[in-house]
Amino acid sequence: MTASLVIAVDGPAASGKGTVAAWLGKAYGLPVLDTGLLYRAVGVAASRAGSDPDDPEAAAAVAGKIDLLALDDPAFRTRAAGELASRVAVHPGVRQALNAAQVGFARRPGGAVLDGRDIGTVIAPWAPAKLFVTARPEVRAERRWRQLAAQGETVPFEEVLADIRRRDARDGGRADAPLARAPDAVLLDTTEMTIDLATDAARRIVEAARVGRE
Ligand code: C5P
Repeated sequence: MTASLVIAVDGPAASGKGTVAAWLGKAYGLPVLDTGLLYRAVGVAASRAGSDPDDPEAAAAVAGKIDLLALDDPAFRTRAAGELASRVAVHPGVRQALNAAQVGFARRPGGAVLDGRDIGTVIAPWAPAKLFVTARPEVRAERRWRQLAAQGETVPFEEVLADIRRRDARDGGRADAPLARAPDAVLLDTTEMTIDLATDAARRIVEAARVGRE
């Protein structure tokens, strides 16, 4: 619809950012990159290769070799893959190996939507529209619990909540590109929102950013 509209959607695990990003992509006719899948792919590849996800060099070597276009493996969507992703994502060498593909996607001539943790801060700090999507940890854990159950993975709720808290701490506490709201990102707290309300609010945020730019 609009030439080179780039939308950065960041936020913690299960905040609704993926849903918001996919919806915005459809609404504006833009391609969407779920950057979490790149880290999940590295985590799963490291584990399959028997290499230690906490070893910075081994993980970076795996990241340098993965196929960035083969992101539809269902194994990337599991709870274990989320945990592995967050462990490999602390290594600067891994982040560096995945950087160019993400920046390239963000610079596509027609525009793009990217969702992740550092899109508005590191990958596309120049993006004209930035959202920081969040929700209370308990609400995010419930959403993730339902998602996992729908995929056939039954896990006690308390464990899913512990996963979410551990990932929040690791993603927000790492030295390189920690999860952070860019100063110019608009906060969208989806705690009390249905998907319809959240996507509607997201669209209004993007519209306001577009008007502000013109
Ligand atoms: O978004 P998702 O839960 O799939 O991300 C999995 C993990 O990948 C996150 O917990 C985070 O550690 C890492 N990640 C990241 N930077 C991104 C996207 C994801 O560090 N841009």
